[in-house]
Amino acid sequence: AATRDFARRVIDWQGEYGRHDLPWQQAVGAARDPYRVWLSEIMLQQTQVATVIPYYHRFLARFPTLAALAAAPLGDVLENWAGLGYYARARNLHRCAQTLVADYDGAFPRAAARIAELPGIGRSTAAAIAAFGFGERAAILDGNVKRVFARCFGIEGFTGTPVVEKRLWALAEALLPASGVEVYTQGLMDLGATICTRGAPRCGDCPLGADCVARRDYRQDQLPTPRPK
Ligand code: ADE
Repeated sequence: AATRDFARRVIDWQGEYGRHDLPWQQAVGAARDPYRVWLSEIMLQQTQVATVIPYYHRFLARFPTLAALAAAPLGDVLENWAGLGYYARARNLHRCAQTLVADYDGAFPRAAARIAELPGIGRSTAAAIAAFGFGERAAILDGNVKRVFARCFGIEGFTGTPVVEKRLWALAEALLPASGVEVYTQGLMDLGATICTRGAPRCGDCPLGADCVARRDYRQDQLPTPRPK
């Protein structure tokens, strides 16, 4: 398959068809605000973009900075999270803000591996924050991206098992472009969310379609391998 052109194709597709107007994509000055990137990525973990947007605006209006969030009582944070569900995310958000203020001079570290040490932030979310917030070259691997990789490269086995995950992470690292990681990362997310969907993927519109193993073999409904029963 097309490992050589993979990133180029994702980047070109993102430029033309990806999402560019999400509120957390708006730059503050020259760069994006890592606080806003982090907030959006946590909200987006288990909630769809369209649902997140009004919550994101309300939350930011109430807690405009990391320092404001850290200083707020937990009850206020939970109140402004109400409706989004998965309240552990809000508790971790608050705890993370307090940790950053107390131990990190009130700023996110740049490196994905350091970001992943913070409360409530896993490896993939840390990489997204590093890539979007700082332009760091870090690989993401969320559920959507696992599906894109499993189909495109014909990777067999349930993607939640350690051996398959290890393979997918290695692939994610190997496919990272030398530059343009922000556009590439957003493109991967958007491809998984809008084209390479779980049911009825739109392979005719996919920039990876020409080299996709699942499409070639008519196995889109068998890849990624479902969770064993
Ligand atoms: N899901 C998780 N992160 C996202 C992002 N940055 N844009 C769109 N959907 C996402």
